[in-house]
Amino acid sequence: MLSTQTFFFFPTAPFILFVFTASTIFHLHQRLEKMQPTWELEALEPATMETPSRPQPRPQLKGMWTINAIGRLGNQMGEYATLYALAKMNGRAAFIPPQMHSTLAPIFRITLPVLHDATARSVPWQNYHLNDWMEEQYRHIPGEYVRLTGYPCSWTFYHHLRAEILQEFTLHAHVREEAQNFLRGLRVNGSRPSTYVGVHVRRGDYVHVMPNVWKGVVADRRYLEQALDWFRARYSAPIFVVSSNGMAWCRENINASRGDVVFAGNGNEGSPAKDFALLTQCNHTIMTIGTFGIWAAYLAGGETIYLANYTLPDSPFLKVFKPEAAFLPEWIGIPADLSPLLKH
Ligand SMILES: *[C@@H]1O[C@H](CO)[C@@H](O)[C@H](O)[C@H]1NC(C)=O
Ligand SMILES: *[C@@H]1O[C@H](CO)[C@@H](O)[C@H](O)[C@H]1NC(C)=O
Ligand SMILES: *[C@@H]1O[C@H](CO)[C@@H](O)[C@H](O)[C@H]1NC(C)=O
Ligand SMILES: *[C@@H]1O[C@H](CO)[C@@H](O)[C@H](O)[C@H]1NC(C)=O
Repeated sequence: MLSTQTFFFFPTAPFILFVFTASTIFHLHQRLEKMQPTWELEALEPATMETPSRPQPRPQLKGMWTINAIGRLGNQMGEYATLYALAKMNGRAAFIPPQMHSTLAPIFRITLPVLHDATARSVPWQNYHLNDWMEEQYRHIPGEYVRLTGYPCSWTFYHHLRAEILQEFTLHAHVREEAQNFLRGLRVNGSRPSTYVGVHVRRGDYVHVMPNVWKGVVADRRYLEQALDWFRARYSAPIFVVSSNGMAWCRENINASRGDVVFAGNGNEGSPAKDFALLTQCNHTIMTIGTFGIWAAYLAGGETIYLANYTLPDSPFLKVFKPEAAFLPEWIGIPADLSPLLKH
């Protein structure tokens, strides 16, 4: 899930090459300054698939910041939101890589401009690694051409801009409509439910990665039962809309005999729009682990139940992941059963 990358800004090279490099970069800087207006135009290429909003005058921002586009939907949403927030905090213009645009733009009405590969190649980037939580020094990151790296996905970077982040991650009308049509067709005992709870069950590779790499567990049937019962106790006849990349396991392990559970998503990680939209259109969220569920809960904005303390205390996972930076304080954690890890 996480990797440490090493970057070399300048290769150790003969002096002559250094002078050449340095002077090239100097001239490039000058060219970049001149090219700025062109980029502004390129920047206005609409990132949305629908009627783009009228170009708004942007404040004069110096430089150009970007971020790596790694991981799947949830990771890239975290990277996008972190770039958005940190660039704003540092007074820099933010640009996203084309791969991030291809992941996010089919689903959301994002507005950050795309930096094309040809342009990106001519920029003297400085890489800047981020932890998965906000740090004081990120308020003053030096450099005009910064490429943020890492897998940031923490509300601590962007929660103060929540309204803007929700705006960026507004679903396209057709994506939203498809989800709404599905929800409108659901019945519990013949009546349309008034409370929809999105349930995201992350399985797939995590089923092996959690115990083998991170000394942790994924959600089990007991956790899901407790989480569903939590909502059943608080709302009259809620409906649970389950989406998972392990739907066969869900059908076997989630008790649907009350008629209030619907197995809805297709679990297709390659085209996650439908599953993601269903979860965000529900009123509340039950998540298990992973950034997909965290984002679904953040966008749904209702009550959220999450799986807490799902690794052993000496897990290396806890060096790169801070639970308090991942889960909003008002979300409700149910501790995981770690006993399977203690067996031999
Ligand atoms: C649906 O109706 C049956 C029979 O009356 C009842 O046992 C069940 O609890 C009801 N389900 C819900 C979710 O209210
Ligand atoms: C499923 O839930 C029903 C209704 O609460 C219960 O009667 C039944 O025993 C449960 N089944 C299992 C396998 O837990
Ligand atoms: C709950 O979600 C449904 C489906 O999106 C929506 O129609 C309804 O207005 C929501 N209810 C509340 C109280 O927000
Ligand atoms: C997780 O573990 C920490 C440390 O033991 C504890 O303070 C916290 O209450 C636990 N969280 C939940 C939801 O049980």
